[in-house]
Amino acid sequence: MKKLVAVYVIIMTCGFAEEYTQADRIFDMQKMAQAMQDIQSGFFYNNLDIVKAGAKDLKETVVKIGPIKKETENKDVYERWMTNNTAMTKRIQRKIAQNTDDIVARFSAGDATQALQFYSKISSECMKCHVRLRKW
Ligand code: HEC
Repeated sequence: MKKLVAVYVIIMTCGFAEEYTQADRIFDMQKMAQAMQDIQSGFFYNNLDIVKAGAKDLKETVVKIGPIKKETENKDVYERWMTNNTAMTKRIQRKIAQNTDDIVARFSAGDATQALQFYSKISSECMKCHVRLRKW
């Protein structure tokens, strides 16, 4: 796993600065998965700072995700429509950002139950894209 991450970092530092590549996206996805784990650890250890740090990472990263060049330039109209579903992506990004704020607000107020509900809402937003867009 560590090796894999190192490879992505090397790929990213060797150019492709402007274009959002598949390596960038995989890296961002892994960052979001880590952020979700951090938020969950914060819940279990009852540590607001860890929750906040995970929330910050998640919000900063979710805005970056989107289709890569190969997808925006796909000649197949249907496939292009599927993978560039920017309306859906924007909606999911908005919801994830909103739910992340809700987690911090609820957990700060000592309401772990509600915070956890917003957490699972985020998980289902992640999976919505994976299932609908990626057919995973
Ligand atoms: C807008 C669509 C979309 C959303 C929303 C989304 N993902 Fe993904 N995710 C993808 C795509 C596309 C890939 C495949 C990346 C690739 O190989 O190009 C992926 C791959 C992944 C991977 C595998 C990365 C790897 O190492 O191969 C993880 C982990 C992941 N996503 C986590 C998340 C988490 C956590 C969330 C929510 C916080 C999330 N994703 C939300 C589209 C999305």
